[in-house]
Amino acid sequence: MFKVLVVDDDAGLRASVTATLKSAGQYEIEEAVDGLEAVAKVRAGRFSLVILDVDMPNLNGIDALKFIKDHDPSIIVIILTAYSNIEDAVRAVKEGAYNYIAKPVKQADIIDMITKAHEAHDLIEKVADSSPIITLEGGRKFVGTSREMQKVFNIINKLSKVTTPVLVRGESGTGKELVARAIHYNSSRKNEKFVAINCSAIPETLFESELFGHEKGSFTGADQRKIGRFQYAEGGTLFLDEVGDLSPVMQVKLLRVLQERKFTPVGSNREIETDVRIIAATNRNLDEMIKSGQFREDLFYRLNVIPVVLPPLRDRKDDIDRLITLFVAKFNKSHGKDFQGVSQDAVASLKKYQWPGNIRELENVIEHAFIIEGTNRITISSLPEKITGLEAPVESTLAAPLSLGQASPGEPLDFNRQKEMFEKEFIIKALKTFKGRINQTALHANIPKKTLLRKIEKYGIVAREYSVPKI
Ligand SMILES: Nc1ncnc2c1ncn2[C@@H]1O[C@H](COP(=O)(O)OP(=O)(O)OP(=O)(O)O)[C@@H](O)[C@H]1O
Ligand SMILES: [Mg+2]
Repeated sequence: MFKVLVVDDDAGLRASVTATLKSAGQYEIEEAVDGLEAVAKVRAGRFSLVILDVDMPNLNGIDALKFIKDHDPSIIVIILTAYSNIEDAVRAVKEGAYNYIAKPVKQADIIDMITKAHEAHDLIEKVADSSPIITLEGGRKFVGTSREMQKVFNIINKLSKVTTPVLVRGESGTGKELVARAIHYNSSRKNEKFVAINCSAIPETLFESELFGHEKGSFTGADQRKIGRFQYAEGGTLFLDEVGDLSPVMQVKLLRVLQERKFTPVGSNREIETDVRIIAATNRNLDEMIKSGQFREDLFYRLNVIPVVLPPLRDRKDDIDRLITLFVAKFNKSHGKDFQGVSQDAVASLKKYQWPGNIRELENVIEHAFIIEGTNRITISSLPEKITGLEAPVESTLAAPLSLGQASPGEPLDFNRQKEMFEKEFIIKALKTFKGRINQTALHANIPKKTLLRKIEKYGIVAREYSVPKI
């Protein structure tokens, strides 16, 4: 609903604006008599638009505008002002007002303005919907510019407004836990607890008590009464990670809680009512597990009311740029560094790679580069070889590096030979990165220039080959 607040100290004017709005469309309208009341009402309710007089007792329109915009920048504010005070209107627009209407107010002006404002509001909503970032607790960011992730963000928005169970599926490292947190921290439960439990990490015998708690003396070792995760998460969200690993017995018990919203602690005869939102996640193929009888179909349908499927990173490479920016900022902070981003060829390599470990792997690769990179920009030389995929020149002059453990019987493993091969590879990589420039390569790869030149000669490397031709 498009909610409008009409603010003016002149009761007659308020009434006439309200009447005009009522005739113009389906608006929910409220009124305020001055700036103070306006700010209080905006803080208390969700208004989309505020029509605001400037000259009012208590708090004038310009100051009220500042409070309103501070509270919620997406609220559209239209200023009402006398012709003689046009400079007020100009000031208001600078402060973030959408537009102004000059007094004496004409019906047609109001209708015209509110129609446009309504369209602008819809546009703002749409942009907000497709925001490439969701912010989580502690300022953590969930990034996704790709179409695939925008769809996921839309589902997260919808799921935040209801309390149905959610099943998040996706390969390892795709961000399943982030989805669960995003739903929780964008929902009305955000001030209650988000409790995570990994279903595969806890031995089956202890799991029931971990989830539902136990009474003192209910089994050997239970010398204290214990509160389970369900009770701990009361009013909030319980994240059941790796739900595919739940034992058949626990599947039945979980199903019962989902159906009846009640559970019984181990060793107790007292049922406890629960209001906990369940979000489950798994990277296992539940369809297969249902077919083979390892996962209960009824539980699956209870959990999977609205499925959230996270695509692997290789299917949403558009996200890589933003993710890199996010991780560079993150590690600059945690490592106390000042990296200026990632070189173009390094980004190109990162985009070519297939990322079997998804975003977690990308995050690790960036952190690894932070540690070994000698410059203040991540270059190709600090990326692992699985990503840069070293090309042939090394192998054409020297035998391919032995892979340890796979040496053929007649071929001895030789430390010096391995070391030489590594040195040659490393120098070629470094020269490529610094376009064949000896001084820069020596400086950034941390090799004394004399040593570098000696090695170049020893391995018959032609540094020129890696320079960028001058046109
Ligand atoms: N879209 C994203 N934006 C920012 N960070 C992300 C994103 N997706 C994942 N990450 C980061 O990647 C790491 C892995 O994410 P998460 O733990 O949510 O994955 P998962 O799917 O639960 O993995 P697993 O199956 O291994 O448990 C986390 O550090 C998380 O913060
Ligand atoms: Mg996880």
